[in-house]
Amino acid sequence: MSDAATLPTSVREAVLDEIWEGLNRPVPELSPRFFYDRRGSELFEQITRLDEYYPTRTETALLERWAGPMMERLRPAALLELGAGSARKTRILLKAMEELLEGGRFIPVDVSGDFLKDVARELERDFPHIHVVPEVADFTAPFQLAHPLPHPVLVALLGGTIGNFTPDAAVRLLGSIAARMTNDGDRFLLGVDLRPGSGKTKAELEAAYDDALGVTAEFNRNMLRVVNRLVGADFLPERWCHHAFYSEEHGRIEMHLIAEGAQTVVLPERGRIDFAAGAGIRTEISAKYDRPSVDALFARAGMRVTDWLTDSRERYALVLGAHA
Ligand code: SAH
Ligand code: AVI
Repeated sequence: MSDAATLPTSVREAVLDEIWEGLNRPVPELSPRFFYDRRGSELFEQITRLDEYYPTRTETALLERWAGPMMERLRPAALLELGAGSARKTRILLKAMEELLEGGRFIPVDVSGDFLKDVARELERDFPHIHVVPEVADFTAPFQLAHPLPHPVLVALLGGTIGNFTPDAAVRLLGSIAARMTNDGDRFLLGVDLRPGSGKTKAELEAAYDDALGVTAEFNRNMLRVVNRLVGADFLPERWCHHAFYSEEHGRIEMHLIAEGAQTVVLPERGRIDFAAGAGIRTEISAKYDRPSVDALFARAGMRVTDWLTDSRERYALVLGAHA
């Protein structure tokens, strides 16, 4: 995210409204996109290397197994990735694109602008036959690409990021992806974390969001620093505790920040908000899926699942989709 000094006035007003409205809900809430300034992106990278955080290494293994056959079959001219982050796993797809298809275009989209630009520079250096065109944008809002998209395109949403959306918001996001898939050969690649079951316990899932080193706690608190810088609020991050749990009812992890003692936060140009000791702010949901719920999500967005690829413990899935 940018900081207050660089936000155009209309964007700052919209962000202030969103934060004010979110914090005044019955369950106060902030959007997970506020995790990601440069420090937030770096903390997320540390999370991906934690013993407890199995999604990244499981998805990496699936990509290593399937990237080659996938690229040979789909032969995309472009890879458009929403929420690319460090694109570390995407390198597996880019390597297959370069080796099997002799190049193509990679359009990583991310809200963490400074981080994205550094990542793009490194990718350009490491993949000389891939044309890297980074796009700093919020993918939940309509955004236009700088250049027309070459087809066939493979649109990727990896890392379980779909979990950060409510069912209706996930349908809207997939609908916007489906709208970019205008040619017959266009495909959608989704990485999705699966619900606890035979291969994964609820305890393992909760540990992935509450690691022993406290990196996830720091990532969670970083959101308050981002909000302070973005709109000039005065949260005291060190007075908020990390709390994460799996809700069986909703099939999702929820992350909250809990007020350590009563506190008042002032949001410039909007007002003050009082938090009682123990009051919480929900900072993230991370919904977990299974095959029927992915099928239902795709159907609502006008897509169908063509391939369902999981690890032997069925902890995580790579899903390929096409228009229904
Ligand atoms: N795809 C990577 C990173 C996942 S973390 C992986 O699999 O490891 C989620 C990424 O999405 C972060 O880089 C974050 O900056 C980005 N992101 C989150 N919300 C976003 C939004 N609304 N618009 C654009 N990028 C967003
Ligand atoms: C980016 N997103 C899919 C991660 C997740 O697992 O929901 C973010 C994260 N939050 C805590 N740990 C990782």
